[in-house]
Amino acid sequence: MNLQNKTAIITGGSKGIGRGIAEAFASEGMNVVISARNENEVTKAAREISERGKGKCVGVVCDVREHEQVKQMVASAIENFKTLDVVINNAGVGKFAKVEDMSPGDFRLIIETNVIGVYHVCHESIPHLKKQGGYIINISSLAGTNAHPKMAAYNASKFGLNGFSEALMQELRDDNIKVSYIMPGSVNTYFNDDEPSDDNAWQLQPEDIARVCVDLLHHDERSLPSRVEIRPSKPQKK
Ligand SMILES: NC(=O)c1ccc[n+]([C@@H]2O[C@H](COP(=O)([O-])OP(=O)(O)OC[C@H]3O[C@@H](n4cnc5c(N)ncnc54)[C@H](OP(=O)(O)O)[C@@H]3O)[C@@H](O)[C@H]2O)c1
Repeated sequence: MNLQNKTAIITGGSKGIGRGIAEAFASEGMNVVISARNENEVTKAAREISERGKGKCVGVVCDVREHEQVKQMVASAIENFKTLDVVINNAGVGKFAKVEDMSPGDFRLIIETNVIGVYHVCHESIPHLKKQGGYIINISSLAGTNAHPKMAAYNASKFGLNGFSEALMQELRDDNIKVSYIMPGSVNTYFNDDEPSDDNAWQLQPEDIARVCVDLLHHDERSLPSRVEIRPSKPQKK
């Protein structure tokens, strides 16, 4: 795909991995709509990305769990940039506790954000992507195949996202829409109330996941790497 002047939506683009992807896309000359729930953070991030990149960036307040807000976000992309070519379903949350200790509210938050939110964004975006073809990339996790204690909710959400992505890939490929999912290991972000830190320099950085996204978009039309695993090359010894 020639990325110049193409339009991308990146959910959860105010910080962490989504922000890294937004910066990489804007520096490739793409116009980007980023979304998040926190208005100040998404507005500030969009301004900074626009100042640094070749493409423009618009920040939209949108909770992916809310269908109406997702509709508005997709409408805003079309209003600002006329077409929609690329969708990055990145917004995601994790909370880690034994099933007997996890509240129904937290379990619901994880499934509604990581699975139902992705459905909302795809449901609203696909009619626009069909017009000229495009690409959907879902940010899953190595937790989408590796189960661990205290991760039942997060595992369920990312195992589910992998299945969703594979079905969608088969559904859309004849419409010239590619679907891939990326499964990162530990990334140095704000995930689960963490803070990016030098102590975590051994972890993947957001720009590593951004590079995979840019590489996927550059693949020849005939080629579809539908699932990508990426992990720190030297994980910290426990
Ligand atoms: N960090 C890791 O080690 C790691 C590893 C594998 C996969 N992942 C996946 O990578 C993705 C990004 O995580 P990250 O590490 O970059 O986390 P992060 O630094 O916490 O960033 C999460 C982003 O998602 C947004 N967000 C959260 N809930 C949202 C909602 N309901 N609607 C819209 N936006 C929402 C946040 O903004 P607001 O809070 O303002 O909404 C923020 O912009 C997630 O899907 C995560 O599961 C992370």
